[in-house]
Amino acid sequence: MSDRHYLYPGTFDPFTRGHLDILERGLALCDRLTVAVAAGGKSTLLDRDERVELARDALAGLAGADRCRVTGFDGLLVDAARDLGATAVLRGVRSPSDLEHEQAMAALNRVLSPGFEVVVLFPRPELAMISSTLVRDVARCGGALEAFVTPGVAAALRRRFPRG
Ligand code: PNS
Repeated sequence: MSDRHYLYPGTFDPFTRGHLDILERGLALCDRLTVAVAAGGKSTLLDRDERVELARDALAGLAGADRCRVTGFDGLLVDAARDLGATAVLRGVRSPSDLEHEQAMAALNRVLSPGFEVVVLFPRPELAMISSTLVRDVARCGGALEAFVTPGVAAALRRRFPRG
């Protein structure tokens, strides 16, 4: 029996509605999916445990949530993919510059791990402008977040940047 297991890696600082779109559509193409939250160095707004928790919160109500799990990973993506038994890595591409970056990353990862496969999906156009960077900026400035992130993530960002 086939077991297509996609690994959806990212920094997810924080997990956005754009990520959710890619995840939902990726999930329709595989049997199970693992969201893998990268350590991300010291420059992230949220620490990795918070990013993992918020990703879990974002996909809690999803149809097919029982086929998803969220975990953290350190080190190389190819090692995480191998250790978790993933059959392919899922990535979202919003723009030509994203595509260039993903192509370079895929080529490098394929040198490190010859069987490495990437499934690239393009977000719904109305979500393509959402990036975690812009979401953090909106949160810092006290703007409305609901169009960009799920309610649990919005609440966490509001706690991080209380108004007044
Ligand atoms: O959400 P992001 O920031 O675009 O995710 C990037 C991520 C975490 C997928 C990438 O930086 C990564 O794979 N990091 C793990 C370390 C690694 O394997 N680096 C070499 C990839 S070319």
